[in-house]
Amino acid sequence: MTAIEALAQQLEALANEAGQAVSDAATPAALEAARVKYLGGKSEILRVLKQLPSFPAEERAAVGKLANDFKRTLENAFALRRAALAEASDSAAVDLTLPGSATPQGRLHPITRTIDAILSLFVPLGFEIIEGPEMELEHYNFDALNIPREHPSREAFDTFFVDRPSPEPKKGRLVLRSHTSPVQVRVMERRKPPLRIIVPGKVYRPDPLDPSHSFMFHQIEGLMVDEQTSFADLKGVLEQFVRALFGPKTVTRFRPHFFPFTEPSAEVDIACASCSGKGCPTCGRKGWLEIMGCGMVHPNVFKAVGYDPRRAQGFAFGMGVERIAMLTYGISDIRLFFENDLRFLEQF
Ligand code: DAH
Repeated sequence: MTAIEALAQQLEALANEAGQAVSDAATPAALEAARVKYLGGKSEILRVLKQLPSFPAEERAAVGKLANDFKRTLENAFALRRAALAEASDSAAVDLTLPGSATPQGRLHPITRTIDAILSLFVPLGFEIIEGPEMELEHYNFDALNIPREHPSREAFDTFFVDRPSPEPKKGRLVLRSHTSPVQVRVMERRKPPLRIIVPGKVYRPDPLDPSHSFMFHQIEGLMVDEQTSFADLKGVLEQFVRALFGPKTVTRFRPHFFPFTEPSAEVDIACASCSGKGCPTCGRKGWLEIMGCGMVHPNVFKAVGYDPRRAQGFAFGMGVERIAMLTYGISDIRLFFENDLRFLEQF
């Protein structure tokens, strides 16, 4: 065996031993100790390299190569092991079996959900979603809707007056709108028929809070005007809406009523689902639940917006969102919607 062959054998044995030491090292400290032992200043390989000048010149290159290969292989092995140990200690810091810290998930308020559900039934019928101001002029809230000053019907829409000068005194004082109907007037003033709009929004009335009243609540107003739009169209649209919202077998009743801005006018009732119309606590023993007002737009309203009442015909309707939400979710107290109690809100 030549001296070179003997050295090669020796280095190979050393490499095996070092390789074993690397894979046995379970901690960064143990790995560092092995590195010092096999590659450090007092290591075997350094001893070999120091002897290099004593090898015959023609063998030096071969010995040098052997020694360098050994060093490089070992350095690689250390680097790999170091990375593996670091990764293991990172993942040990994150204990995947511990319960996570959940981010609470937000959700839509039941009133928002109800508004969205209602709007999404009218949009496919060609109704455009429009909003109007919550601070309104008396002209839009009352006069243009055929609710004259001093007329007793004005009391039915009991109103908050805003203590601030009117921007247009000719159109009366500022009020918090008591219904969404004024948006009908604002839209018709700007646009000519045909039009179909659906108007969600907040309305205000000075009612003391009780299980069925709030000083602020939501309405959705609808208006469809064309040259010929009949009461049959009104019934068709509203019956389709009611069945889509409350179920295909829902029975509706159009009960004559009075609203100043429509003639004829009706209230829409649905047969109480709890007792199928027989009468129970849910419907106050009436068998029917009132869900909205509607009617054919009054000619005076058309005149107020500059339409010719002989050439325009249309229907309007308005519903209370809280009332519909209470019916669909089985809620008996309107105040629950506004108290922001998460125990209530988290149920939706
Ligand atoms: N504005 C009425 C209210 O607040 C509801 C209403 C009834 C709206 C009949 C309408 C309608 O558009 O045609 O009680």
